[in-house]
Amino acid sequence: MKHSKLTKWLFKMTSSGRIVTLVAIALSADCAATPAADGAQQEKSTVNKLVIHADRGKEEISRNIYGHFSEHLGRCIYEGFWVGEDSAIPNTRGIRNDVVEALRRIKIPVLRWPGGCFADEYHWKDGIGPREERPTMVNTHWGGVTENNHFGTHEFLDLCEQLDCEPYICGNVGSGSVLEMQQWVEYITFDGKSPMADLRRKNGRDKPWKVKYWGVGNENWGCGGRMQPEYYADLYRRYATYLRNFGENRLFKIACGARKADYDWSEVLMREAGRYMNGLAPHYYCGSGKTKRPATQIDEEDWFAQLQRALLIDELVSKHAAIMDNYDPKKRVAMILDEWGAWHAVEPGTNPRFLYQQNTLRDALVAGVTLNVLNNHCDRVKMANIAQTVNVLQAMILTKGEKMVLTPTYHVFEMYKIHHDATMLPVDLECKDYRFGDEKIPALNVSASKDKSGRIHISLCNLDPKNPAELVCKFQDTRSASPPEVGRIEPAVGRSGRVLTADAMTAHNTFDNPKAVRPAAFYDYKLRGDTLKVTLPSKSVVVLEIK
Ligand code: AHR
Repeated sequence: MKHSKLTKWLFKMTSSGRIVTLVAIALSADCAATPAADGAQQEKSTVNKLVIHADRGKEEISRNIYGHFSEHLGRCIYEGFWVGEDSAIPNTRGIRNDVVEALRRIKIPVLRWPGGCFADEYHWKDGIGPREERPTMVNTHWGGVTENNHFGTHEFLDLCEQLDCEPYICGNVGSGSVLEMQQWVEYITFDGKSPMADLRRKNGRDKPWKVKYWGVGNENWGCGGRMQPEYYADLYRRYATYLRNFGENRLFKIACGARKADYDWSEVLMREAGRYMNGLAPHYYCGSGKTKRPATQIDEEDWFAQLQRALLIDELVSKHAAIMDNYDPKKRVAMILDEWGAWHAVEPGTNPRFLYQQNTLRDALVAGVTLNVLNNHCDRVKMANIAQTVNVLQAMILTKGEKMVLTPTYHVFEMYKIHHDATMLPVDLECKDYRFGDEKIPALNVSASKDKSGRIHISLCNLDPKNPAELVCKFQDTRSASPPEVGRIEPAVGRSGRVLTADAMTAHNTFDNPKAVRPAAFYDYKLRGDTLKVTLPSKSVVVLEIK
């Protein structure tokens, strides 16, 4: 079908929440009006409508979709988490207290470590024992800096205990050995008498830890060994064979997944090794704007391009999931998106290999949209880990000495925690386009869930940076006689909704002005009968609670 400027698109979320084209009416060139007139007509004729199927919830949104990733890269581990016991920065056994407290507030469910590309050259035995005796290594991927190995297995598992989150360890396939990975599991999880368990005891930890999530290599199609999928599938089978369950510890084995749209990788992995894995882990970074610039130096072209790429996650997850469905119709194998996020040019004056970037309202929209899409795919996606937690890429937190700042992305994770372990409610959305130049994307993006106490939460994103959006929302619940009620979403705020927005697309938090972008109470809604009318500000993320 030939697309012309007169083509009208209405977008709709299917019952599983995926965006599909509902109607595409291509008007012939003969009856063309001027593009402006057509655009104006479309603005008038398309009403934003949302139907929430409150009675059709089936799948649970795993809290692990709100997971995180931390690598020995730049200032993520060192300075971000680890300052050492002798630091003047308040810490508990070397781990900074402010960062732990902030991450506990967003209920961080799972943390992936030690990489990333770093994982495939990390040798865990260098990171145990007295710190001053640990050997150093060169972190060749990330700036050639010397890694002192002061943050190793014990420190990571202590961090996870302080955060009250699940550890997710990624083992070394690229430059490691089967024995090395097997012994790491034994060291951490074996309760009896064995060489590795005794070594752990000698290093001060008597009881084993529990570690469930275990990755077998990282990006083994790239920095993790430049392998072909057939070769990696065989290696995966071999490594996974020797990853043992000790005592009550049960490993959830995760194979390296595809890069972006490399569907052949998923096909081969599922065909050759699917039955030996619990999870398959694709990666998707949605890049930056039209051209890669520092986060705060963008214009609307960059805003549009970034969100267009962020929305692509829906297509990627759908297509990888369809391949998985062929081999695993019962959805035993989870999709684990263990690296995702925006990737901008580094902040001027910083080490290009440290990947330190600012985080603006645009990143908040990237997070809001991505998490909505993942919520809507929660039948297959059971974990996701944004890259990376502190000071690297799309971070939650930036630090400078003893100072810490929470980013707009952090606030989205905090606002969306109401979806953790809630039942996803399918939605139908018809909405206007947000147009830029000759291109367009749906202006709105949504997901909804019902928590254990029956409260419904709706997270909405308005991607249009200039225009607010009116949305008419209906609740379909054949089982309930009473009309819904907008409830109190956050006792601390004491209002029914919350919004994250700002005047500028580039709004961000700095060490001098750390509260420029933060959630505020939201009142712009009316509930009559079972119809909710909401006015979403331009470039905003809104969360509503309905009782
Ligand atoms: O997150 C930064 C890097 O991006 C990771 O080390 C690697 O896995 C990916 O390419």
